[in-house]
Amino acid sequence: MTLTPEEKNGVYKAIRNRRDIRTFRSDPVAPELLRKLLEAAHNGPSVGFMQPWNFILIEEAELKRELAQAVDKERRALAIHYEGTGRETKFLELKIAGILEAPVTICVTCDPTRGGDHVLGRNSIPETDLMSVSCAIQNMWLAAYAEGLAMGWVSFYKKRDIQRLLAIPPHIDPVALLSIGYTDDYPDRPLLEIHDWERRRALDPLIFKERWGQSWTTMPEEEA
Ligand SMILES: Cc1cc2nc3c(=O)[nH]c(=O)nc-3n(C[C@H](O)[C@H](O)[C@H](O)COP(=O)(O)O)c2cc1C
Repeated sequence: MTLTPEEKNGVYKAIRNRRDIRTFRSDPVAPELLRKLLEAAHNGPSVGFMQPWNFILIEEAELKRELAQAVDKERRALAIHYEGTGRETKFLELKIAGILEAPVTICVTCDPTRGGDHVLGRNSIPETDLMSVSCAIQNMWLAAYAEGLAMGWVSFYKKRDIQRLLAIPPHIDPVALLSIGYTDDYPDRPLLEIHDWERRRALDPLIFKERWGQSWTTMPEEEA
């Protein structure tokens, strides 16, 4: 069960260096590699082991164009929220989807009915099905990094648009559109940080001890 030091470093390296990517080359991704990413996803944890996911692989140019249109429509609608804040132009300039560029897009869905009425552990917190799908997606993201592939998570869309375009039944939730491909432009920091939109917060103030709001810190000046 233990990792060699090299393997351990590899895990942390992937976690640290995995990035959300928007710019892709057009060269295709081998089906065997896609399969590996999907196996990584399928090995994710899930509440009551319900495995609520499905994966729709999209490579057809026309379909990708329609998906990209749905995303762009939402991006323009969202821009209204930044009107007058000084961030509107920056938001519209941010590249938020690589769907047209990436050779493949994967729609990851969640079936809340899988496993029947009483999925172990899901009665108390129903959204644990979505949490499970998120864990699967993170596994894919890390596997993509390990394989030298780039992945971008697109969530700017109306779910009904995506259900219509991909013929997804009404009770199935299209959780994510993932752009997958190769890139020549792998940033060393989050793109939103590079574009001065948001920065990674300091970790220590986010960690509490015993009660909400009671600081836990490893910073020397706070130590007794
Ligand atoms: C649930 C979720 C939804 C996201 N949706 C979008 C999106 O619609 N468009 C986008 O540009 N990035 C999206 N992202 C990517 C984030 O912007 C990105 O993860 C964040 O800026 C941190 O950068 P990093 O992933 O490179 O560390 C999403 C990420 C998550 C986890």
